[in-house]
Amino acid sequence: MPRVYNFSAGPAALPEPVLERVRDELLDWQGLGASVVEISHRGRPFVAAAEQAEADLRELLAIPSDYRVLFLAGGAQTQFSMVPLNLLGARESADYVITGQWSDIARKEGERYGRTRIAASSADSDFTTIPATSDWQCDPEAAYLHYTPNETIHGVEFHEVPPIEGATLVADMTSTILSRPLDASRFGLIYAGAQKNIGPAGLTVVIVRDELLGRASPLTPKVYEYRRQADVGSMANTPPTFAWYVAGLVFQWLKDRGGLTAMEAVNRRKADKLYRVIDGSGGFYGNPVDPRCRSRMNVPFTLADPSLDESFLREAEHNGFYALKGHRAVGGMRASLYNAMPEAGVDALVDFMKHFQSING
Ligand SMILES: Cc1ncc(COP(=O)(O)O)c(C=O)c1O
Repeated sequence: MPRVYNFSAGPAALPEPVLERVRDELLDWQGLGASVVEISHRGRPFVAAAEQAEADLRELLAIPSDYRVLFLAGGAQTQFSMVPLNLLGARESADYVITGQWSDIARKEGERYGRTRIAASSADSDFTTIPATSDWQCDPEAAYLHYTPNETIHGVEFHEVPPIEGATLVADMTSTILSRPLDASRFGLIYAGAQKNIGPAGLTVVIVRDELLGRASPLTPKVYEYRRQADVGSMANTPPTFAWYVAGLVFQWLKDRGGLTAMEAVNRRKADKLYRVIDGSGGFYGNPVDPRCRSRMNVPFTLADPSLDESFLREAEHNGFYALKGHRAVGGMRASLYNAMPEAGVDALVDFMKHFQSING
């Protein structure tokens, strides 16, 4: 079967050259006569690949030298606990900005470990906007200020880092990391589950400023302690070696494609093309998000007549467009346009959408 255009929100499409390379070297990695999934994480070959992956990620994101990069087991939601366990320290509470389902879940999980405050929320707009930063009620004593730069379900994205003076910013970048250049120095901590723009699920990347290490609550499980993981190269327990290896190949692929400035230009074009067809459809297609904060990575859209949803999805799949069904919380459709989605895939989708409208509009 030919490969489809895969619009899955995650686990998501990986770059084809990366998958081909994995296939080619799966049985015999680096002439070892064994697979990368069959060797020790502590042996020289794997450690060298792991170090190269970190170096490439540092280069792509221009991560300053006073930040540690951790490659940890578990998903992004593991960080919903690890962040408060490690960063609350002696502080009484942490601030959260709620702009969709993921930031809401992050706060509720944080509440299990300490007090959380809602510094701002767009719940009353059904998460179709981002509250103006001038209206955020931040606590100067908060241990950190957590936000979600891209809400995967609601399709809402911050296009700037919030200019909040003095706050230790913590960002869940699961569905936006590596889609554009980043000024990492603005953050205390960044985390991202791998399964969208990094690699296979099971791995989470954490980028944390040195000075935030060493504050973990005594109840923190040992393998959840950032300090300990940083001290032993993320190998306090067996890391997800396969995902780490694939992530390294994705980083090389990104470098070969010209890095994140080049990726941003493509990602911007892809999203613009899709929003243009939605907005130009005379109401046949709709997207409720404030145009100033529409996501470039996840584009939810609805049909004015929801009784057409099923035939839209069926015909889309028949034409090679996979996983366009929207998240159950918002319904309709969602096209996820991560780095591995080629521009040709969006061009083809846009043509399909116009055609579907011409038949059903
Ligand atoms: C922004 C964001 N945060 C957290 C998660 C949860 O990730 P995981 O399933 O890896 O725990 C997701 C998953 O889609 C997400 O998109």
